Amino acid sequence: MNRKDFGEEFHWGVSNAAYQIEGANKIDGKGISIWDVFTQKKNKIFQGQNGNIACDYYNKFTEDIFLIYQLKIPNYRFSISWTRIFPNGITNINYKGIDFYNRVIDLCLELGIEPWITLYHWDLPEALQKKGGWTNRDIVNWFSEYVACCIKHFGNRVSRWIILNEPMVFTGAGYFLGIHAPGKKGLNNFLAASHHAALCQSIGAGIIKSLQTESFVGTTFSYSHLEPYRKDYEKDQKATLKVDALLNRLFIEPLLGLGYPVNDLPILKRMEKYILANDMQDLKSEVDFIGLQVYTRELIKYAPLMPFVQAKLIKASDRFVHHTIMNWEVHPNSIYEASKRFNQYEGVKQIIVTENGAAFDDELNNNTVRDELRTDYLKTHLNKLLKAKNEGVKVNGYFIWTLTDNFEWAEGYKPRFGLVHVDFNTQKRTIKDSGLWYKDFLS
Ligand code: GAL
Repeated sequence: MNRKDFGEEFHWGVSNAAYQIEGANKIDGKGISIWDVFTQKKNKIFQGQNGNIACDYYNKFTEDIFLIYQLKIPNYRFSISWTRIFPNGITNINYKGIDFYNRVIDLCLELGIEPWITLYHWDLPEALQKKGGWTNRDIVNWFSEYVACCIKHFGNRVSRWIILNEPMVFTGAGYFLGIHAPGKKGLNNFLAASHHAALCQSIGAGIIKSLQTESFVGTTFSYSHLEPYRKDYEKDQKATLKVDALLNRLFIEPLLGLGYPVNDLPILKRMEKYILANDMQDLKSEVDFIGLQVYTRELIKYAPLMPFVQAKLIKASDRFVHHTIMNWEVHPNSIYEASKRFNQYEGVKQIIVTENGAAFDDELNNNTVRDELRTDYLKTHLNKLLKAKNEGVKVNGYFIWTLTDNFEWAEGYKPRFGLVHVDFNTQKRTIKDSGLWYKDFLS
């Protein structure tokens, strides 16, 4: 397998996200986000860590973008921190924030790297969370104002846009389980947040299209390839269907005009109270690509006591299979299954894998990190992606998560996903063997 097998048009890249790397959380007029607040709470994050400094990318972005250049990676996906642009969420623009992203974009362009901007990668302004955040329907207006502002200021140089990063994860972990910011729980919070996020992804796409005709617009979805724990046991099979509706269909289907997967997950009927007259039409929008983010496979077991889905996931460590330190099974065929599945939807024009990667226990010795496990993970996943492409799947891009080791949300700095090692005491960057492998592959 080599790069050419994927064709000339294929987009090769690397991804990261503002809160996980930038640091400088109160610098140059930046407002406070829900992650700034959540990380201050007790027992929420591994060892009480936070992203206040993270990779100090705010001050070191030049070095990091040069690393992308050095590794010959042609596309760079990063996110904008909403509170650098609007410290209070809406109305008053912070021009120092605009300047910062202008410098990032300009450097990318100077080095021939194509910027792909994620508009929302989970760091909602705290000022908006105080009004209910994603559970408040006004988020549609707040988000629209923010999106329009980004297009106005950056749209003359950026044409690749990603609206939301994994709505299932930020609504599920942030508004149902309470394990991510803003730490809210319960079905009502989750359903309201989900419906509003689904509206924002389609309305956001419409805004970009109306302001920028030459744009290439998509939005991302997490995808877990699911299988019943006991293959022939009907209850596990049914449980798998429910979990699939929740994890894999809840956001892509309304965007494609298919509505919510209520038949396979009847609890979604309770979403009705948040759905207004024209919403079902407004949930639909034309996007140029679907961002697929896939890491693993999950096995699903019937669990009658589990609320709403009557199902649970059986952890990789309990199944004694090869897994990463996130306890995610290494299962390359998942990327094949995932891309095939998305490809079956008629409305999907193009699939770009906007995240795939792995965290292992890396060791830095004599300025090298021999991370064969990561390289192996990447190669085997790419092989399976190529198989899908050769079978006609419209996949046209692959972005590795992530450039540098960074703040991995509730898991803090422990899981290292980077192609580049970061010593968080000194902020020294060291390219890992997997980074060198990617460079060779792309050369
Ligand atoms: C995704 C997320 C990223 C990163 C990655 C690895 O769900 O978009 O921010 O954390 O997982 O866990």
